[in-house]
Amino acid sequence: MKLSYLLLAIATESSVSTTPSVDRVLNAFGQESYGVDVSFPVHYLDVWDKEDNPLGDRQSFYDEFMDGCREHYGGKIGSTACDITEEDRAAMSLRQPSSMQNYTDTGFKKVQAPKQVFDMLSDYWKKNYERKEHENWPKGNTYVNHWNSPTYMVNVESGTLRGGGQNMKRKIWDGVKPILEEWTGMELEPSSMYGIRMYTDGAVLSPHADRTPLISSCIINVAQDVDEDWPLEVYGRDGLAYNVTMQPGDMVLYESHSLIHGRPFSLKGRYFVNIFIHFQPTGKLLRERDTPILTDADDEDLPIYILRGNPEEDHWLQQQQHPSKQHIRVRESPAAAATPLEQIAQAAATGDLNTIAQFAATEKHLLHQTDKNGWMPIHEAARGGHMDVVKLLVDHGVDINSRTRSGKGSTPMKLAVDSHGLEHELVEYFSSLGALNIGPEL
Ligand SMILES: *[C@@H]1O[C@H](CO)[C@@H](O)[C@H](O)[C@H]1NC(C)=O
Ligand SMILES: *[C@@H]1O[C@H](CO)[C@@H](O)[C@H](O)[C@H]1NC(C)=O
Repeated sequence: MKLSYLLLAIATESSVSTTPSVDRVLNAFGQESYGVDVSFPVHYLDVWDKEDNPLGDRQSFYDEFMDGCREHYGGKIGSTACDITEEDRAAMSLRQPSSMQNYTDTGFKKVQAPKQVFDMLSDYWKKNYERKEHENWPKGNTYVNHWNSPTYMVNVESGTLRGGGQNMKRKIWDGVKPILEEWTGMELEPSSMYGIRMYTDGAVLSPHADRTPLISSCIINVAQDVDEDWPLEVYGRDGLAYNVTMQPGDMVLYESHSLIHGRPFSLKGRYFVNIFIHFQPTGKLLRERDTPILTDADDEDLPIYILRGNPEEDHWLQQQQHPSKQHIRVRESPAAAATPLEQIAQAAATGDLNTIAQFAATEKHLLHQTDKNGWMPIHEAARGGHMDVVKLLVDHGVDINSRTRSGKGSTPMKLAVDSHGLEHELVEYFSSLGALNIGPEL
């Protein structure tokens, strides 16, 4: 397949529908195609499957997938974790791509992996696959149906496997970087390397956009033993699905932060072996661009690949690792000079239970108040991961489902999930109370 066809077709046929439709629709390669929420839920989890789905009964396929997760993790908390991961995946797929700076015209491209990189990976795999280890998935994770089709790792970072370690990683970074720089026109720096992962018979990879800073990325197919191609399904700029098939030695370049990608059809075969290599732009341009892009962030809080004034900006600023400037200021102000509300916010954010308990005894109403950023103490405590503070607030009747930003932002559960992951005790606690996991409205 040639990507120039895709470019051409998009340029000349701008009327291609971007809305999901089950009518006969051809993508730029002339394949019969479809939009999101046809092969697998991408944007919506509840009502997504079409009655006349050209791919057959995908709803049952998905229901079985989810039942597998819920049974595997078991109980109310376990199955809630599966649902939370799904809600998060769908919200990200909806929110993230349109908020991201893209650096290429197509979003994906298949090339050959550099020979020396492929040979090194292939050699490493052959020498070490017998010592592969079960890949550990966080509780409730639905990105791969690992409960049905376990995945394994032959970790390139391993200090104990023959040939692995930092030296090998450096050779891989150095080997693929020029290809991605050439493709994106941006100077890149490494952000993450993951693999070598082995998928097994029946595996499904849910369509998703990667978390930042996994921006300019590639997948190398290291080895496979399959009965039929196991396509990587991506949604192109026309909103339609493309199957990209890979043989060992093939490398798919993709803008992983904005391009929805997955493997929603079950793997038929023994194994399929990949490594994922991710970079982020430094801001330096390697060539002139037709449309200007941000290269130098004047507000140093936000990375250059997030478009200003878009939904992802808010979301990004809410993450605990990158608190908004306003919140930093609240935390840094000396307690004496702060108003009572600011003192409570600070105590909740830092887990200072004594201060919260004192206010609970004297000025209880303040526990329910919203500060000028639209946050209540329970939001600060949830983001800070402070179980004892959250419990005290809940015991004092604070609304567990209150949302930041006048009801338009996140619930405490959502802040806890985003900041601490699904396995954190706070998330278990919230789940046990039936709390809602809701994020910012777009
Ligand atoms: C991708 O492959 C699957 C499974 O082989 C097939 O059902 C689907 O129609 C293909 N999609 C496109 C867009 O070609
Ligand atoms: C970036 O690319 C993705 C997928 O390729 C697309 O959905 C999104 O709209 C693009 N972003 C912008 C801002 O154009």
